[in-house]
Order: sequence, then C-alpha cells, then structure tokens
Amino acid sequence: MKKRTLIQAAALAVLASTGGLALAQTAPFKIGLILPMSGQQATTGRQIEAAVKLWMAQNGDTVAGRKVQVVLKDDTSLPDVTRRLAQELVVNDKVDVLAGFGITPSAMAVAPIATQSKTPLVVMAAATSSITEASPYIVRTSFTLPQASVALADWAPKNGIKKVVSLVSDYGPGIDAEKFFKERLQLNGGQVTESLRVPLRNPDFAPFLQKVRDLKPDALFVFVPSGAGAAVMKQFFERGMDKAGIKLIATGDVTDDDQLNDMGDNALGVVTSHHYSAAHPSAANKKFVAEFQKANKNMRPNFMAMGGYDGMRVIYEALKKTGGKAGGDALLAGMKGQIFESPRGPVYIDAQTRDIVQNIYLRKVEKKDGQLWNVEFDVIKDVKDPGKTK
Ligand code: PHB
Repeated sequence: MKKRTLIQAAALAVLASTGGLALAQTAPFKIGLILPMSGQQATTGRQIEAAVKLWMAQNGDTVAGRKVQVVLKDDTSLPDVTRRLAQELVVNDKVDVLAGFGITPSAMAVAPIATQSKTPLVVMAAATSSITEASPYIVRTSFTLPQASVALADWAPKNGIKKVVSLVSDYGPGIDAEKFFKERLQLNGGQVTESLRVPLRNPDFAPFLQKVRDLKPDALFVFVPSGAGAAVMKQFFERGMDKAGIKLIATGDVTDDDQLNDMGDNALGVVTSHHYSAAHPSAANKKFVAEFQKANKNMRPNFMAMGGYDGMRVIYEALKKTGGKAGGDALLAGMKGQIFESPRGPVYIDAQTRDIVQNIYLRKVEKKDGQLWNVEFDVIKDVKDPGKTK
C-alpha cells in the first residue's frame, strides 16, 4: 500500500512538472532579427527578410511544440541603432536568439550584449573574420572575407595575373580581403603593388580608378560590400580600364546576384570567388532559387539570402535538439557542430570557432537564357576561415 502511494506521488510529481513545462513551452520562441531595411545596405535586409520568410513557409512556424515568432527591426545599418535595438529586444521582448546583422560594425556593437545576456547571436551577413571572437555566443552562417580572398589569390597567378592593385572598402571586411589576398598572392609568386581603400559610406571610385589606370597592373582586385558592386563595375568599364589591359577580379560581393543582371554585358567574363552563386547547379539550390523567386516577384536570391536561410535552419535545428527549451547555453550547444547540405553546398558549423566551414567556388560571369549568372568553374572544398589559424 505504502509502495503504491509512493509511486502515485512520484507520478503526480512528474505530471506536475511536465504540466508546468508544457505551459512554459506554449510561450512563443522569439527571434530578434535586426537588419538594415533602409539606407545603403537595404538590399541585404530585403534579401534576408525574404529568405527567413521562405524558410518559415517551407518548414512551418512551430518547432518542438514551440511557436516561432520573428521580431524584425530596422537598424538602418547604423551600429548605435543596432545596439539600442538589441538591448530592447533582449530586455523588453525577451528574445531567445538575436539574428541578422548586415555589416560588421553592427555585429560588433551587439557582441557584448550577447555575452552578458547569454543570448545566442546568429550572424547571417557580416563577414569580418574576427566577429566570432567578439563573443562566445556568436555563430556565423555567412562567410568570411579571408575564405573568399585566398581562393582568388591562388587562382590569379596560374592565370597570368602577377601584378595586382587592390581596392577595398575601408573597414573590417575590406581590410581582411586586402591582407589575405596580398599575403597569399605573394606566397604564390605574385605581388600587390598598391593597396587602395575607399570609404564605406558614399564612396566615389573615380579618383581611385584613375590611380589604378596609371599604375597599370595586370588586374584590379576589388572588395566592396553587397549593394555597392554595380557602381564599381560601371565606373571600371566607363573608364575603359579593361581596354587599357587591366582585368577586374573580385570577391563575389561585387558581382552580387541581387544586382548582376542590371550590370550589362560589360560584366561578362569577370572572375570572382565566393561561397554562393544562384547558379550553383545542385537540386537543393534549384529548388531554393525557384521557390525564392516565386515568393518574391522573381527577385533572385543572393549570398545574403543564403546566410539568412541557413541561419534559420541552424536556429530551428538547435531548438529541436533542446526539445523546444530555450536557454542560451543549450541552444548554443545545439548550434555548434551542425552539418548539413545547404543550397550553397555542404557546410558545417565548426564547434570550436562557431564559424561556418564551406566550399569556395571560382566563378565567371556568363550569359544563359538572356540573363547574367556567376557560373562556377572550380571549387575548393571545406574551407575553414583562414583568419582563425593565424
Ligand atoms: C560586412 O560588413 O561584414 C560585410 C557587408 C557586406 C558584404 C560583406 C561583408 O558583402
């Protein structure tokens, strides 16, 4: 009899605790998504928002019994605004995860908040190598500039490009691109003869391009952030740089799929290196591109959309692993080490660095069915961020 009461008591206790748990779990799981929806980086916000919506349309808005709610905020790509919004999202909205971050200064501004509040922060766009070192709660699903730049510096000297001038936006990712391209090219017997930096905000490329013309390198290597590529391309060709015998090579940020089709036939033949092309010929990517375009008036997804889409997957999978329980440390543990087939190719989240390991592709702009695409012609597999091994 006594034994039976004990068992009954234990069963009651289990019921009570799971009942309580069930109650807590009915509260929505909140993702605070901070993106530049206006201002110079607005295309990044538009692309990532569309990708997040597509992910949720395809995978539902309930994970392990929890309703997932996205709270979208526009930081206009000003880091002070990003910081204030993140603070409000954590303190007032009690978000379980912070995500988005269109530019490096925005991600950096929020890193201390992620650390103090133990909130996982998924960087879907920003790409300076050191971002993941700014907080142990940061996980990245975009890429790093060292990943992209090193691949191009391996390709260039094998293709007659020995003397290069570099032109980068003067902040984190540009400085990474400049440094890693230069070091690798030197290692391969080439040389960067001049390193030029243009301001991030409202750059005027004309005086820099004039200088490049005078220097007459084999090629100009360019990094500018997503959204600024079309302006560089236009001025490069308007000034007849190609006719003066100077090739244009770049990270894929420049031949951005968001703008590529409007760049015109001048862009044909430009070689870039990157982790994602909308022309990636896998079944998973064909499905992704088709469904993205269908849901967004034919807008072509770019690499920013890819970072947002995979970022959602990483969050969903982590929540599944915790059985629907939030809590920063458990979620973070669920994000580390994830391996999956992304539309960009196979990827994994390195458990040590929390950074993405992925293929880097060499691509050339080609015309197919009347449209311009970054067509992949070579691949370097499973590239870890070279910025982390230094
Ligand atoms: C960045 O600010 O880290 C950034 C932004 C846009 C890019 C690449 C890097 O295309």
